[in-house]
Amino acid sequence: MNAKEVAGNRAAEFAQDGMIVGLGTGSTAEFAIRALGKRAAEGLEITAVSTSIASTNLAESLGIRVATLEAHPVVDLTIDGADEVDPQLSLIKGLGGALLREKIVASATREQIIIVDDSKLVQRLGTKAPLPIEVIPFAWPLIQRALTERDLQPALRKGTDGAPFETDNGNFIIDCTFPSGIDQATDCDRWINALTGVVENGLFIGLTDLVIVGAEDGSCRLIRPS
Ligand code: A5P
Repeated sequence: MNAKEVAGNRAAEFAQDGMIVGLGTGSTAEFAIRALGKRAAEGLEITAVSTSIASTNLAESLGIRVATLEAHPVVDLTIDGADEVDPQLSLIKGLGGALLREKIVASATREQIIIVDDSKLVQRLGTKAPLPIEVIPFAWPLIQRALTERDLQPALRKGTDGAPFETDNGNFIIDCTFPSGIDQATDCDRWINALTGVVENGLFIGLTDLVIVGAEDGSCRLIRPS
């Protein structure tokens, strides 16, 4: 069995009638959305708030009602993936390009469930995945320079056509490699977001209530913050 699917199916079991459910983005979140769609078809009554156009389209195609944050500013439960999870349950997210809406929905969420396979578990953030930073297109050259001056390796994300990748919010993404991983994630989060033109970065610190690690044998490991 696909480990991401195992985690997605398990997370979908946490949804209950009447809940506002945040839908993440990416291949693992997609499994959770499909599992929620199945439960909705069997009678589960939920309203979703989505973190991307892709997840909205998928959810609606499965018969899940999708509403706005304006209508539902408090989200009961969000299920999302991650690119890296460290032992404190801090995350890197955003390889799928949806980090801004993911962080907004996470910040409005009572219980944030992160679903991964064990390839996403790291001892130190930034050792496997780059850190995505969403920026205003006008500002990207300046931000790239500021990151390079810090001895980091920033790269403007490109789409398959070679043009800059554009997020659902019309912004660009700079993927930033930290040669020896991320030291002091909280400080890093602050100084990156303080650069003029940065909208948000993919560090999610203190936003996770539960990590579900799926395995190919169909089992799951549930990790809560210590
Ligand atoms: C989307 O922007 C991301 O934050 C995803 O949640 C993350 O990249 C995990 O994606 P996969 O589940 O596809 O690995």
